[in-house]
Amino acid sequence: MSGRPRAVVDGLPQYKPGKSAAQAAADHQLVEAIKLASNESSYGPLPSVLEAVADGANLLNRYPDHRGEALRAAISEKQGVASEQVTIGCGSVGLLQQAFLAYVDPGDEVVYPWRSFEVHPVFSAIAEANPVTVPLKDQAFDLGAVEAAVTDRTKLVILSTPNNPTGTVCGTDELLQLLDALSNDVVVIIDEAYLEFVTDESVRNPITEILPRHNNAVVFRTFSKAYGLANLRVGYAVGHADVIGAIDKVALPFLVNGLAQAAVLASLESTAEAELRERVAEVIQERTRITEALSGAGWPVTPSQANFLWLPVGDDASALFQHLESKGIVTRPFENEGVRVTVGTPEENDRFLEEIGTP
Ligand SMILES: Cc1ncc(COP(=O)(O)O)c(C=O)c1O
Repeated sequence: MSGRPRAVVDGLPQYKPGKSAAQAAADHQLVEAIKLASNESSYGPLPSVLEAVADGANLLNRYPDHRGEALRAAISEKQGVASEQVTIGCGSVGLLQQAFLAYVDPGDEVVYPWRSFEVHPVFSAIAEANPVTVPLKDQAFDLGAVEAAVTDRTKLVILSTPNNPTGTVCGTDELLQLLDALSNDVVVIIDEAYLEFVTDESVRNPITEILPRHNNAVVFRTFSKAYGLANLRVGYAVGHADVIGAIDKVALPFLVNGLAQAAVLASLESTAEAELRERVAEVIQERTRITEALSGAGWPVTPSQANFLWLPVGDDASALFQHLESKGIVTRPFENEGVRVTVGTPEENDRFLEEIGTP
């Protein structure tokens, strides 16, 4: 062993990325495989976005705009908030890490429902925080139990809605009730990475409904999912200027590269937005179709508000994952809990349904 990593780092598992489609195809001697494992968009970039990225490449020798002023301005205009209420980050996961850096000292409590997004325990460990997990109820968040778990040592509450991997949401009224009950000292992160896929009418826009009433709430969103820009790593946060300012202070210099900024600006143009909305509508339609087909075939499937489905198959998770991979479909297993499957194109989904068959 070279060097002396911190004990918490020594204890962390080595990050193991999921298998690529090409690797799965090679491993199983298949002509080709598909990846439905990372909740990405299956659609390629829009031509207008590719053009903006190509133009941006002329400036590869220059650092990008550190603050991404044009991008912040576009987001703040779209969301109807002041520009000091917006920041951008290296994916929304980068913003989450910055929130830990900005708010969490060793020993502080961080409250989140579990099972949820896998980075929460990792970031908690790195910060030497005390993670307080709240069990799910029927695969969904129990916000009453979240409220009860908060103490005067709690610095952050993290709520991913829709939740990864279960695809369940928190209604806006429930969130308001939670925020009404919590002290202003606790920052509540409403992580809406999959917002664009939500059709549940109990969910309203937290930027207009929650932020004006609660300075301690902050909304995280991303261009990785519905906007199909996962490779470029851009997320944004909207909140009170104090919270945004704290998150900003710990940002790596120039963390959102210029090509990414250009791509997002092009994606926010109205014609691009309209095309992206059509793609999202297709994913939502496919989500319903696959959910019905799986339920009809006898699989347990949690109704999802995201671009993925959760099959809570318990102990059968690894076997199901391996069976699908051997047929050229890479999904995401959670050992002894379930399998998460991204909604792909209609052709990809047909192939998935054919291979999964019946339990
Ligand atoms: C719940 C949730 N939040 C945030 C993210 C982060 O996305 P990104 O860092 O690409 O913006 C993901 C990605 O899978 C997620 O599932």
